[in-house]
Amino acid sequence: MSFLDRIRHAALHALVMSAAQAAELIPVGANVGMSGFTGAGYPKAVPQALAERLTALHAAGQTQASINLWTGASTAPELDGVLAKAHGIQMRLPYQSDPTCRQLINAGQMRYTDMHLSHVAPMARAGFLGPLDVAVVEVVGILPDGRLIPSTSVGNNPTWLDQAQRIILEVNLHQNPALEGMHDIQRDTAMPPHRQPIALTHPSDRIGTPYLHCDVSKVVAVVITDHADRNSVFDAPNEVSAQIAGHLIHFLQHEVKAGRLPPDLLPLQSGVGNTANAVLAGLNQGPFKNLTAYTEVLQDGMLDMLRSGKLVFASATALSLSPAALAEFNANIDFYRQRIVLRPEEISNHPELIRRLGVIAMNAMIEADIYGNVNSTHIMGSGIMNGIGGSGDFARNAYLSIFMSPSVAKGGQISSIVPMVSHHDHTEHDVQIIVTEQGLADLRGLAPTQRAALIVERCAHPSFRPQLRDYMDRAKHSGAGLHTPHLLDEALSWHSRYLKTGQM
Ligand code: COA
Repeated sequence: MSFLDRIRHAALHALVMSAAQAAELIPVGANVGMSGFTGAGYPKAVPQALAERLTALHAAGQTQASINLWTGASTAPELDGVLAKAHGIQMRLPYQSDPTCRQLINAGQMRYTDMHLSHVAPMARAGFLGPLDVAVVEVVGILPDGRLIPSTSVGNNPTWLDQAQRIILEVNLHQNPALEGMHDIQRDTAMPPHRQPIALTHPSDRIGTPYLHCDVSKVVAVVITDHADRNSVFDAPNEVSAQIAGHLIHFLQHEVKAGRLPPDLLPLQSGVGNTANAVLAGLNQGPFKNLTAYTEVLQDGMLDMLRSGKLVFASATALSLSPAALAEFNANIDFYRQRIVLRPEEISNHPELIRRLGVIAMNAMIEADIYGNVNSTHIMGSGIMNGIGGSGDFARNAYLSIFMSPSVAKGGQISSIVPMVSHHDHTEHDVQIIVTEQGLADLRGLAPTQRAALIVERCAHPSFRPQLRDYMDRAKHSGAGLHTPHLLDEALSWHSRYLKTGQM
């Protein structure tokens, strides 16, 4: 297939150019909105060319030459990685998981605005983030009338295309043309007080069109690429993740028996990372059938569940598959197109829809404290790991808000259950269930001291329980308020002790 078959808008043929020529059209200091979500559907060539251009400018004395980079979520070494290594990103939003970005952010050399993903598009439209100068968006193809066939993620692309003054399109010949029809793009650009209810009542509902709208007069370059997505490999499920999944399945069965959940549950959301992916593997072996998903990322675990028939439909904004899972997806894309819809992240993460559908939100965490506050983003209180992503969109609005983690990290030296989280992402008010391989704590309806006792006895690792019990006991008798008793000096020293001694 020639690239001309993918670019069916005749006038755009004249704008086909190299990535280096396209990168010249991005002004230094620009706000640039790029496609990409969890390593899927990001531009593969222009960021590399831009990194080379910025490196040359640095060598020529323009040492501050950089851009402000907005995306859907995390991308890949060919985008975040190359631009970070070239010191080409001044400011990054709304989510990243790149090692060089992480290092620069934690060294104070890159500014990072870690945002709820559902906030990004409406905030950009409202102008809170400043003007969007350039959009760089990967697509599968361009229709004769200029509409675009989206790629393996949608993310914030509708907003970038609407808001940007200039548009650069990367047409990726590697992406399967049979992705056409898998997307549902709804462009609700109304601002308050003119917003209307979103007419979506089931994960499989379609409320938009399969194509991205694009004002062709704003397109300044079309670049042809032929590269696969990042496609990370997940850790194989292990004994710890199998135990976490086991506790979760037992709890869900109990909820069905108690009449608080229907037998086919409610739409599932599953977070990012190894733990979340492994829990899906557990659910695939579990007793539930006819499940649906209303989630953000579709990882290997959900693809397995679709194939086995346990999951009948999945709505997401991006694929995030290992190379083996992607090959299987492409080989059976007609099967998956009947069962998957990819939406803008503004819709996949919309609070109105998450609350209406009654989503069961299952997100991984770094640590939780004895009162049920959760840290998803920071190591030892100061260093960013990835970001909050969509976990807050789902946790706050879910029917059931579940956070999970192994009870210990770093070979057992760090407890994931601590007296006070070293950074707050999800407050006690948004966290209903905490699960580790030790057990599950159902915090619904409990007062703080009841929650503390349950979390320590059910979720903490036995080697840390005595210290946590001792802390709770002394806090209760310290003369501090008895609603949420704390010993502030000690709570804060819990993490610093590890930093000093390597042991909590
Ligand atoms: N203290 C210090 N380090 C910790 C820790 C703790 N309490 N808990 C985990 N870590 C470290 C691990 O050791 C590992 O480090 P390494 O990369 O050097 O090996 C790293 O954090 C990841 O831990 P892992 O157990 O492999 O977890 P994961 O892959 O399941 O990811 C999160 C867990 C929390 C980092 C990940 O889910 C995340 O970024 N979440 C926030 C975004 C989100 O929830 N999005 C979902 C919405 S769809």
